[in-house]
Amino acid sequence: MADTLPAPRLPRFVQLYHEDRAAVREELLRGLQAPRPSIAPKYLYDALGSRLFDAITELPEYYPTRTEAGIFAAHGAAMADHLPAGATLVDLGAGNCEKAARLFEALRPRRYVAVDISVDYLRHALGCLQRQHPALDIVGVGMDFSQSLALPPEAGAAQEGPRLLFYPGSSIGNFSPEAALAFLRQARAACAGGALLIGVDLAKPAEIVEPAYDDALGVTAAFNLNLLLHVNALAGSDFRLADWRHRAFFDAAASRIEMHLETRQALTLRWPGGERRFAAGERIHTENSYKWVLADFDALLRQAGFAATRHWTDARGWFAVFAAQAGD
Ligand SMILES: C[S@@+](CC[C@H](N)C(=O)[O-])C[C@H]1O[C@@H](n2cnc3c(N)ncnc32)[C@H](O)[C@@H]1O
Repeated sequence: MADTLPAPRLPRFVQLYHEDRAAVREELLRGLQAPRPSIAPKYLYDALGSRLFDAITELPEYYPTRTEAGIFAAHGAAMADHLPAGATLVDLGAGNCEKAARLFEALRPRRYVAVDISVDYLRHALGCLQRQHPALDIVGVGMDFSQSLALPPEAGAAQEGPRLLFYPGSSIGNFSPEAALAFLRQARAACAGGALLIGVDLAKPAEIVEPAYDDALGVTAAFNLNLLLHVNALAGSDFRLADWRHRAFFDAAASRIEMHLETRQALTLRWPGGERRFAAGERIHTENSYKWVLADFDALLRQAGFAATRHWTDARGWFAVFAAQAGD
């Protein structure tokens, strides 16, 4: 009888992001028809958008990923001392899951729960991760957490122990300070008495920040423009990439990078049942990335109800990782 290999373990997957087509279309068309048009940054991430984001993290100009990785490498053990051991590790906006995987040894999670809106990409990443960590209990959650952070039971019930929420990459910077506070309050509730480990990009001169969002190779431009293809697929619009250009600039007063897509000439955008005229040079706002001051972010965490906050930074003070206890 031929030997048979045991079937490889597959990660469980909970699909909560059903792409309610009508609701998604309505949200997109509302944004496009507004006097100051906008599209939410979550739409940057279809499968190609996720791959383009991974390419961005390799760019010489994109300092956040490698700076944050340096902080984890230098202080991961100290962070683990400050965090619950054997927790359910919940990775918010997990992407390729590589950052969390690098912390498995230090944090020793009992379960890894990866949450992302980019469902196909997440499924693929988790399949690879399960092969590398066959014994680890891995759960994928396809979900849009911009409205609600209500996690499914598969993300670990409260009685199964604390959750450690992991939110790296300064994704919190996509929220305005008010929205960030609301999100952190929800994150604290979702911790079930555990803790939060979060990466935050810090305020620094525009000459350093702007190239990170407008690189010489044009990868961030491709990432931003790909959003138009995603919107065409979701809303049936007729965006043509050649009509639009990428724009990114630092607004020092608001301490944020703004990303926009700008028309190269006047045009009419059409979709089933509607249209909108765009003037030459008119913009669609696609992303904000707020840059925080250490003390202000620490105060924000406390305002959201977190306690015993600690942070670690790189030598240049460009980026910070905060650990914070959720308390009871
Ligand atoms: C800037 S990338 C960060 C990826 C990775 N965590 C890192 O730090 O390199 C943001 C990630 O969050 C996901 N994401 C963005 N908005 C989301 C939302 N509203 N709900 C769930 N996931 C979201 C994206 O698909 C993407 O994987």
